[in-house]
Amino acid sequence: MQENPAPRAVWSSKLGFILAASGSAIGLGNIVFFGANAYKYGAGAFYVPYLLALFFVGLPFMAMEIGLGLRFNRALPESLHLIAGRRGEFVGWWGILNASVITTYYIAILGWVVGMLIGAFGPLWKPSLAVPAFNMAEGAIPNPFAYFFNMLSTPGTLLFVVLAWVLNIIIVWKGTLTIEKAVKVCVPLMWVFMLILIVRGLTLPNGSQGVRLLFTPNWGVMRNPDVWKGAFGQIFFSLSLGFGIMTAYASYLPKKSDCNSNAMMVSFLNCGFEFIAGVAIFTILFSLSIVPKASTLAMSFFVLPSGIARFPYGVATFGVMFFTLLLLAGISSSVSLVEALASSVIDKFRISRIRALLFVGSGGVVLSLLFALPMVVDASLKDNGTLGLTLLDLSDHWAFGYGLLAMGLAESILIGWVLGAGKLRETMNANARIRLGPWFDVLVRFVAPAVVLAVIVASIAHEVKTGMYGSRMVTGWRPMAAVVLLAWLLFTSGGAFLLSAPQKGKGVRA
Ligand code: PFF
Repeated sequence: MQENPAPRAVWSSKLGFILAASGSAIGLGNIVFFGANAYKYGAGAFYVPYLLALFFVGLPFMAMEIGLGLRFNRALPESLHLIAGRRGEFVGWWGILNASVITTYYIAILGWVVGMLIGAFGPLWKPSLAVPAFNMAEGAIPNPFAYFFNMLSTPGTLLFVVLAWVLNIIIVWKGTLTIEKAVKVCVPLMWVFMLILIVRGLTLPNGSQGVRLLFTPNWGVMRNPDVWKGAFGQIFFSLSLGFGIMTAYASYLPKKSDCNSNAMMVSFLNCGFEFIAGVAIFTILFSLSIVPKASTLAMSFFVLPSGIARFPYGVATFGVMFFTLLLLAGISSSVSLVEALASSVIDKFRISRIRALLFVGSGGVVLSLLFALPMVVDASLKDNGTLGLTLLDLSDHWAFGYGLLAMGLAESILIGWVLGAGKLRETMNANARIRLGPWFDVLVRFVAPAVVLAVIVASIAHEVKTGMYGSRMVTGWRPMAAVVLLAWLLFTSGGAFLLSAPQKGKGVRA
């Protein structure tokens, strides 16, 4: 098998790649999850594990995943096949399938964003509606919480989820060509909207108090392994690492591209956006004395909108802007995984793009609809409200909390030890202005896997000690939690086993 396959589509310019890769990285993770995680894990003190995770793991993995795409010109499973045969390919598919679980609930969330965006044009800001399923009476003030759960428990909302999938498929329809067109609009617009929101937040009375809170350390929390898992998970998720995305996108780069500067640019754009999103969110919330709930979804769907509802003017305009921002950021992320999955399927089975997309889209829509199931299972709302949300929370625990880190560990072993970190470094340095020295090999072979492994082991130990899922685990969930864990293991491992089987009569694409 050779390492230089037939020519592949390429981005029309370096800017096209940077926009697409940073569009993938900047997503709901930056806007909602970061703010909620930073608050939950001790605000200012969260930056210490976060920055350590960025420099020791985030940046090297970003460069490595881009380097893989440049070296092999294939999506992740086949790139890893070239390194370690069927076992490598198994790891690649495992990562892609784990990321698909994340993406299917991510797209369900995007469906809800569409619903809230429609609401933001008017009904969301009216005195609240009753929510019969949750015994919630009508109220005299706008109540985004009531609006959200009303929407969630209405089966019609499933249509928004289907719409979110249709949008994704349209954008990846012609691969780099259509993705580039979409990100050229979405990504700059996202930055503009975020800058407007930050100015709004900082000019609200006491807005700057929020910034102070964001940067006030609470060192005590750093002894909790959850904080470290939170920071490393956040870096992987936020930079779209361990998804196979950066390798797929980099496989469309011209051979002469500068791997290291691309990796640095994408990482800094992402973390810069995350940083200003944190400031925007904290200023808005603290000016209006709203203490954010730890739940990440609550933050975007009702905590922040409650803040916007109390703006002195322009409530609907800022509301529409906020949900449009979420939609743009979310779509430019989800398309990247749909593309990574489709290109893996095309590389492996050599079927047409249309067939691959129909296959990915139809499977994906079914899974996303599961996560949006409107039936109410927890009427007390002590944890999550609907059956779909409960499934989402349980799946997220494994796919996001452990899956991405496990994938990072496997990648660093395959690249560091099987391929040899030095070999990939040669590819990465080939056209780079900033060349990486042998220290990079030490980082990939020893430091990164040791740190990631330590975080995984400490989290499992903590989980065993405090009971699975910590305090969130309620008795009624136990059988469902076990079913979700088994389903996740079966889907990722069973699926990867089948997908990595040699193709009869086709061999591996050379
Ligand atoms: N980097 C994305 C974010 O921060 O929101 C994470 C992501 C999720 C990327 C789902 C791609 C995806 F399909």
